[in-house]
Amino acid sequence: MTTIAVISGSVRPASVGGPVAQWVADKANTVEGVEATVLNLADFNLPIFVEDYPTAQRPATDPAAVKWNEVLASYDAYIFITPEYNHSIPGALKNAIDFITPSVLANKAIGLVSYSFTSGIRPIEALRLILANFTTGVVGPQVNLNLATDFENMSDFTPAAFHDGEVPAMVKAIVFQDRALSVLR
Ligand SMILES: Cc1cc2nc3c(=O)[nH]c(=O)nc-3n(C[C@H](O)[C@H](O)[C@H](O)COP(=O)(O)O)c2cc1C
Repeated sequence: MTTIAVISGSVRPASVGGPVAQWVADKANTVEGVEATVLNLADFNLPIFVEDYPTAQRPATDPAAVKWNEVLASYDAYIFITPEYNHSIPGALKNAIDFITPSVLANKAIGLVSYSFTSGIRPIEALRLILANFTTGVVGPQVNLNLATDFENMSDFTPAAFHDGEVPAMVKAIVFQDRALSVLR
């Protein structure tokens, strides 16, 4: 069994990411041996990072960050869902990643999903760069959704049919990566 946290990376109350996260989790759960659960980053109420040390030197001490790390640690793998904010990921998602203790993500598989007017290409590339500072297995297959064609009125999620196979393909890659990396954990 591979347990996957599907993390919705926008903390805006009006975020369009909730239905995207649920769609990703539902598709992931069609893959044999997978148990996917949605986590909403907003629910963790993380403050801005003002810790005395980077987490590579000492785990964050803020209680919300301790909880965030505990919850993440309980999963085998992750799917980060990110919108595009100013050609990158939201500051809140970067801040949340800054709070992660490196050992929590060590040798864990990760998949990436994004949405924007340019299909979230840039935030996914930004996330790949950020996650390169951790020792993880970020898989190649990814899901890029477009606010103009996969959302009605740029808000109601109505994914085009051709996306149907993309989440299962990415999740199968996550499962293979998880099996390989589990011997290192
Ligand atoms: C601060 C901010 C910056 C944005 N920058 C971009 C951008 O660079 N490119 C783009 O295609 N959309 C951009 N958008 C539009 C968002 O992708 C769109 O509003 C999306 O719904 C935001 O995700 P959310 O609803 O989950 O918060 C931006 C939105 C915000 C709030």
